[in-house]
Amino acid sequence: MLIDSHAHLDMDDFDGDRDKVLERAAQVGITHIITMGIDRESSIAALKLAKKYDFVYAAIGYHPHSADGCKTDDLDALISMASEPEIVAWGEIGLDYYRSYSAPEAQQKIFSRQIEIADDLNLPVVIHDREAHDDVLEMLKKMGKGEKKGVIHCFSGDIDLALAFLDLGYFISIPGTVTYKKAYHVKEVASRIPLESMLIETDAPFLAPVPKRGKRNEPALVAFTAHEIARLRNIDFEEVAMRTSENAKIFFGLPG
Ligand code: NI
Repeated sequence: MLIDSHAHLDMDDFDGDRDKVLERAAQVGITHIITMGIDRESSIAALKLAKKYDFVYAAIGYHPHSADGCKTDDLDALISMASEPEIVAWGEIGLDYYRSYSAPEAQQKIFSRQIEIADDLNLPVVIHDREAHDDVLEMLKKMGKGEKKGVIHCFSGDIDLALAFLDLGYFISIPGTVTYKKAYHVKEVASRIPLESMLIETDAPFLAPVPKRGKRNEPALVAFTAHEIARLRNIDFEEVAMRTSENAKIFFGLPG
């Protein structure tokens, strides 16, 4: 049993063989996949996929890269979708000062608004934080009044930052980069944070784990990530798989 807490199944990388990709995921024991929206169009696509495949669930939201183009009516459209039973989170949202495809001010405004929305809807948030650690931490501190918190997806900070997010009640999601030889920070975080605060993910089609590094990623490969975490913590693969799956079920409110 494994859960991929973060994938982008709507992306055209999967247009040629999406059924096969999902078949392979089921074959390795993946019971649930959460596919992310990054703007209005992809959120609609994510919901469609969740309706089509019964082990796929969706998150909707505006990624920081898309913040410049996000209008009030776009967010209203997403809000009106949020009551669909397949929608289990608001995301992915956050700040990205590494690529800065959208202006930082726009990113902050859209991020802040979406935290309020998720709070009102009582949905957990899926957070993208790329070289914006301090601002993300500040904004999550000010907000998040609801009982549902969120997960820091594709965690890329050090152990101190991980502990600061854990203090606020957030989960940390470990991506395939943990299998990369020189990913010292992620390896340390994966070995030291409590298992009860950990999720695992692919972020497919991006960031394929070793031995598929550089290729297209897909949910079935999340098993390599779980194996590496087990190796780092000196515990069984089954324990990592089971505990992170239980966490994801509680976090997203998944059935089964
Ligand atoms: Ni992502």
